[in-house]
Formats: sequence, structure tokens, C-alpha cells
Amino acid sequence: MACASPSRRKTDLALPPAIAAAFARQADFCRLFGAPLTAAVCDAAIIAVDDGSTVGRTLIAWPGDAMADALMMRFTGGCNTLVRAGRAPALAALYPPATTPGVADLAAALRDVLADPGLDAALCGWLAGPPQTNEVARSGVLMPGMMAIAAITGLPLRLFELGCSAGLNLNLDRFGYDLGGVCAGDPAAAVQLRPAWTGPPPPLAAVRVIARRGADISPLAIADPAVAERLLAYVWPDQPERVARAEAAIAIGRAFPPVIDLADAGDWVEQHVAPVAASTSVVFHSIAFQYFPAATKARIAAHLAAMGAAATPDAPLAWLRYEMDDPALPQLPTLRLTLWRGGDPVETLLARAHPHGANLEWLV
Ligand SMILES: C[S@@+](CC[C@H](N)C(=O)[O-])C[C@H]1O[C@@H](n2cnc3c(N)ncnc32)[C@H](O)[C@@H]1O
Repeated sequence: MACASPSRRKTDLALPPAIAAAFARQADFCRLFGAPLTAAVCDAAIIAVDDGSTVGRTLIAWPGDAMADALMMRFTGGCNTLVRAGRAPALAALYPPATTPGVADLAAALRDVLADPGLDAALCGWLAGPPQTNEVARSGVLMPGMMAIAAITGLPLRLFELGCSAGLNLNLDRFGYDLGGVCAGDPAAAVQLRPAWTGPPPPLAAVRVIARRGADISPLAIADPAVAERLLAYVWPDQPERVARAEAAIAIGRAFPPVIDLADAGDWVEQHVAPVAASTSVVFHSIAFQYFPAATKARIAAHLAAMGAAATPDAPLAWLRYEMDDPALPQLPTLRLTLWRGGDPVETLLARAHPHGANLEWLV
């Protein structure tokens, strides 16, 4: 949705109940996942926003489903970028490293931002487009899956990531890991991942990647500083370790840029994925499948089943997915593997994990 008209006809109209409820829900979600400042920004928006600003009028007239549109992430990402750029010092003074402020203080700072026509216009620009993220800590869940595949097949891996965003996780073998006491990857890497681990350790198997390529319907070219900054603005600022990890992974991604194609995942899988001798072809994705159209999902499954029928022990095909696919536990994604090596595919539920990779329970 485009920004509302900048002309001001302030009548103190507040957010409608459905939009306010969505901000409150997002605040609960942020609190649950350890982002109290971002939660407070959402709560503060509920009391600070009225029809006196372009942002306010845009939010009040929002035509869609605020949750489905990730409207709150658009808003908090926009606030964060103003803070990161030093454009809103009074708001920035309430952000980390300051301790989490009260909602009233945040609301006052937000009102000041919205009263400034330049900041109001800049923030409104962030409402116009969907957020795009690329969570590096998800590699801490994907990597043990890769190790499980390598342990079974004993072959180097060719990686194909669907919905790869900026492709940060395509470099997962270039990060370092402590996975339930099992060390993997590069111990000297600037990105070190240690998800809180329960269950047995993963198999100790070397992951050797000989090819990597990704697809996204809206890929992020992090070589462009503005694109990288936009990606960083969506990382919750009250989780500085995530911000630092994203910055380090961006640096690795710039040093080792994987090929990323602008494509629908269904089209792309059909064009690129087939078993190849002396390697395991691994199609993987994290928190992406739910965003694919139904036809894309069906085409991916059909193509992998067809290619899997041609797989052999010397040319296996693996489908590794870290997705929110359990309706009984919608907040707790699973890590599932389908492996074709000739004959029927073998399905394994490998783990249940936090959506951002903070912890996981290894199940096999
Ligand atoms: C929530 S993000 C997850 C990104 C990344 N996998 C991660 O774990 O950080 C979902 C990604 O799926 C991409 N996407 C959505 N629909 C797609 C499609 N039909 N084909 C390819 N990518 C798609 C989005 O552009 C976005 O980058």
C-alpha cells in the first residue's frame, strides 16, 4: 500500500482495534522470543500513533491483514533504520545499549519522530514494502542436518537453497559450530553458532560443499550497502549478538558470494535439481516454504519425487527442510529430511528447533 497523503487533518483518530490488536500480538511475540525493546516499540505505537502523521493515516487505513502483511515488522524496521542512521537521536537514546525504557517514554519519542515531516516520510516508505530477513542462526539447525546427510551418504554436497533471501546460509560450511559438544565448520570464522542443545549429539561427519546455488523470488544483493543496511534493520536491535552475527555473515557473503537466481522456487527446482554422480544433491530451505504458492509447493514435491526415483547410492538426493509445518506446535519448527538413494525415500524427523535457531532438540 502506498503512503497516505502527507496533508494533515489531525483529529486524534487512533489505530483501529484490529490494527492495535495486531501490534499488541506482535509485542507478545517479541517478548516471548527475547526482544523486550521491540515489544515496547509495538506497544508504544498503539498509544503514539494517530492521524496527525502520514504514517498514522497509512496505518489507520491499512486495507489488509496486518499480521499477514508483517505490518509491525515494517514499522519497527523503519524505526530501527532511523536509529541506526543517527536520524532520530531521542529515539536512539532509548534503544540498546540503554535498558528497556517504559512504553510512555517510547511513545513520546515516537510522537516526536512522527511530527517531523522528513522522518515521517522516511518511516512511511518502510510501510510500503514487506520485510525481508535472512537469519544466520538457522545455520545452527541446518548444519547438523547436513552432517546427518554426509554421515549417511559419505559424499560431498551440492547445495540448492529455496527462498534463500541474501544467501547467507548458503555459506553455512564457512561458519563455526558447537553442536551439543560436537565441533564443526571453521573454528576461526567470525560467525560461531552454538544453539542450546538437547538430545544426543549429531553425527560427527565432515560437510564438504562442492557447489552451492540459491533461488529467491526477491533476492537481496548484499554487495549493495543500502540492501545490507535494510537487511540489518529488520534484525531486532535488542539482540546485539544477532546483529553482530548478521554483519559477520554479510562480510562472509561478500567475500564468497554464492550464485543467487531471481526465480520462483518451483520453476528453479525443475531447471536446476537432478542427482549427479559422486555427490549428494541437497535441496534445503528454512522458514520459506510457508510463503510459496500452493502450486510452487506441489511442483517442488513432484519434481523431487521424480528426481528421487533416479537417485542411487552414488548419486543421492536429499530434501532438508526447517519449517513451521506442525499444526499442533505452530511456533516450533521441525527439521525434516527426505533421502533418496535408490528405492523408497527415507523420511526422518531430525529435530525440533526455535524459529531463529536459538535452541534445538535433536531427535535421532
Ligand atoms: C522468511 S524469509 C526466509 C529467508 C531464509 N530462508 C532464512 O531462513 O533466513 C522467506 C523467503 O522466501 C522467499 N520467497 C517467497 N516466495 C518465494 C517463491 N515463490 N520462490 C522463491 N522464494 C520465495 C522470500 O522472498 C524470502 O526471502
